[in-house]
Amino acid sequence: MLKIKTSCFLWLIIAFSSNVVFAQKKQNAFYPGQLWKDDKGVHINAHGGGIVESKGVYYWFGEHKVAGEKGNTAQVGVHCYSSKDLYNWKDEGIALRVSDDLKSDIAKGCILERPKVVYNKKTKKFVMWFHLELLGKGYEAARTGLAVADKATGPYTFVKSYRPNPGILPFYHEGTSLADQVNCTKPANKSDGFFCRDLPGGQMARDMTVFVDDDGKAYHIFSSEENFTLHLAELSDDYLSHTGKFIRIYVGHQTEAPALFKKDGTYYMVGSGCTGWDPNPARWFKSNSIWGPWEYMGNPCIGENANITYGGQSTYVLPAPGKKGQFIFMADKWAPKNAIDGRYLWLPIKFNNQKMEISWLDKWDLNIFK
Ligand code: DGJ
Repeated sequence: MLKIKTSCFLWLIIAFSSNVVFAQKKQNAFYPGQLWKDDKGVHINAHGGGIVESKGVYYWFGEHKVAGEKGNTAQVGVHCYSSKDLYNWKDEGIALRVSDDLKSDIAKGCILERPKVVYNKKTKKFVMWFHLELLGKGYEAARTGLAVADKATGPYTFVKSYRPNPGILPFYHEGTSLADQVNCTKPANKSDGFFCRDLPGGQMARDMTVFVDDDGKAYHIFSSEENFTLHLAELSDDYLSHTGKFIRIYVGHQTEAPALFKKDGTYYMVGSGCTGWDPNPARWFKSNSIWGPWEYMGNPCIGENANITYGGQSTYVLPAPGKKGQFIFMADKWAPKNAIDGRYLWLPIKFNNQKMEISWLDKWDLNIFK
């Protein structure tokens, strides 16, 4: 008996001290798909995330998941971490907390996904947009949610949630033929039908990102029309509402998980297909103008498991620090049975002329960017 007690005690000491040592150990590389420990030695809990940089510090925001399938709903809120080197992350706590008030749009147990924070230089506010599903309603609400803060780490105050652009038809770039424009007196296909159905009350807004252009204008890109079509919608100058100008992208092809970036004046977007939590081939698009036409370019991934994005799904593309024109692809490897165990796949994006390429690496660091 005494022997068992002593060995248990020893194991506890070893476990405790190794944890402490690990927590302090600095990382100097990315290990896609592995556990990624924060400054406290705990696996980073920021799924479906995005990053905003402010004064040389990177802030990573993502869904805080709890263990089990329950973790697929929002039990806590949006978690924030900070870093100066992108390898080592400090836990900054919960930036936006779900509410205990069951009547709140963000009531505990709702679905709150893919939060993205941007900084508005004019108002000096940090603005968070996210995909929101109301408590107990599955995925039927399909709303976008908004929260704001004065400090990057928050706390963020919930402002509102809604379906964007009610009563408004899309903007068409010059030369769009009438046949390619939505006609609600006679919808041409399933997706047009969903668009027209939702016209009075606003368009569905699920998987999403926010992109800020060089001129400070921001855009909300989201899966709409029952996930059949992406919308790219302009935000107001304060980033707190939609202006009503928007386009539809890749109509009827079920694109999720959009992530947008700009390189040498060209706009790029990477996304996924629509297969729930299961991985599928990524897809990328490019355009000379934010307003399109966006050209579908196929799967950017190459090598083994390219057909399932190495088990992941895109969430954000981050400009590599100090490396102009170089970018990091960020994806989630979901674990829907035990949501908290979701992993992060960060991989460098390569450009072969204007062709985007992503390859798997077990380990890499920022020196990969020339
Ligand atoms: C795929 C989406 O990209 C995720 O954010 C999440 O909504 C799951 N579907 C739910 O099945």
